Amino acid sequence: MLPTQPGAVPRPVIVLDFGAQYAQLIARRIRESRVYSLILPYDTPLQQILALRPQGIVLSGGPASVCEPGALLVDPALFDAGVPVLGICYGMQLMAHLLGGRTAAVEQREYGRTRLFVDDGSDLFAGLEPRLICWMSHGDSVAELPPGFAALAHTDSSPVAAMADRSRRLYGLQFHPEVSHTPWGIEVLRNFLYGICGCDPSWTMVSFIDRSVTLIQEQVGRGRALCALSGGVDSATAAALVHRAIGDQLTCIFVDHGLLRKGEPEQVVKTFRDAFQVPLIHVDARARFLAHLAGVTDPEQKRRTIGEEFVRVFEEEAQRLGAIEYLVQGTLYPDVIESGTRTAARIKTHHNVGGLPERMRLRLVEPFRDLFKDEVREVARQLGLPDRMIVRHPFPGPGLAIRIMGEVTAERLEPLRSADAIILEELREAGLALEIWQAFGVLLPVRTVGVMGDARTYGQVIVVRAVTSEDGMTADWARLPEEVLEAVASRITREVPGVTRVVYDITSKPPATIEWE
Ligand code: XMP
Repeated sequence: MLPTQPGAVPRPVIVLDFGAQYAQLIARRIRESRVYSLILPYDTPLQQILALRPQGIVLSGGPASVCEPGALLVDPALFDAGVPVLGICYGMQLMAHLLGGRTAAVEQREYGRTRLFVDDGSDLFAGLEPRLICWMSHGDSVAELPPGFAALAHTDSSPVAAMADRSRRLYGLQFHPEVSHTPWGIEVLRNFLYGICGCDPSWTMVSFIDRSVTLIQEQVGRGRALCALSGGVDSATAAALVHRAIGDQLTCIFVDHGLLRKGEPEQVVKTFRDAFQVPLIHVDARARFLAHLAGVTDPEQKRRTIGEEFVRVFEEEAQRLGAIEYLVQGTLYPDVIESGTRTAARIKTHHNVGGLPERMRLRLVEPFRDLFKDEVREVARQLGLPDRMIVRHPFPGPGLAIRIMGEVTAERLEPLRSADAIILEELREAGLALEIWQAFGVLLPVRTVGVMGDARTYGQVIVVRAVTSEDGMTADWARLPEEVLEAVASRITREVPGVTRVVYDITSKPPATIEWE
């Protein structure tokens, strides 16, 4: 959970995570304000927190109640460390509870858009209107302020909707400034960051690239490194960054497992060989992967089979090259957080974290362990990667295999690949591809009756899946215009042999996941 490359990053603002849905969003809002932020579990020892020399600390919201046994607590000495603290929702209630105030259940839970009256606009609310609409979601509230605190804002049912002890630079907000339903919330966060913590808005991707190049050069020295290119933006950007740092000491391996989208293998090879002149080994492993996937229908088994086979191919190539000491991976901060928190339930095995490194005994170079996806995209832009690669929708490591329900065969991959390409083409044509987090096709393991000309057909079903999302953790099904859906359905049934029916998935996440397996 802690940054792997001390010195790679400036002094952070730390978000302590109390199991909030929104902890990552808070950290991202801080980064968007050009201040470096980190998320740590709420029970990280205080000494460890302070060793990172935080410029400020944010206590996130969370599902627990401080009024109940087993409440998630922090060491109260946190509030005497001389570091500004902002408690959000549960974080504010906890602050009140630990500092001698009283938190109690409210008669009526405040949920959704709520009117907020600012009573003191001098620092946290500086520059904002006295009456605002904010987003609330709480069952407890601060009933009595702790000694030294004053209320800064109220709502119709919460006398303390914001509070402060200015002498100790401790602040609390009952509402959620990080969510888009509180549009001016970013101003409150910035008032905290710049005005109260004294942070500079200096976290930019240009400075990140400069720092990382130096660090990678120091880490790798004259050693040789390998990078597995997957076709996605993360590994491509990691390769481009490491190549900038160590040049030809980096070799890239692109394992074509035959489970990528249409045209992607060609694009990866072309970009890295032609545009960047990176030494690239292109392994055509399509037949191997299909052979191993024969008869496999269980989703987790598919993931494991692909992960294991990937490692085997990769190891063989690495052995052929000889004398490699480092492995470059495009691991992102959300992967690190999700693999490391006790609170996050494992719903699916994601095979980019773990797997390769333990078995290969190579030292890892993971320049993006501290970055969010949009930050990596910015790095990619700065490094000159082609736009099409940068704005590509996220694509799972196991590829089309987890979008084919049932057994993966060459005969079933072909129609899915063609249908999938049509979905994306139509979205691009309609100018919607960039507004959507992900859109793709899924092939079902059933056949249905259709009619073509005068003849009865009995063919396959393609599901169109398109979702909007901020980070993939939750998602909403995309309300695509009827004309786009119409064009997708008629083109797929016309152009993809064997497909007689197209359906649209209208479930959000939760309860469904984005992928079908
Ligand atoms: P789910 O289906 O869990 O997906 O809602 C959330 C995001 O993660 C991607 N995903 C994966 N990415 N390896 C990956 O690298 C995987 O095994 C994997 N499974 C899901 C998915 O495409 C979505 O963006």
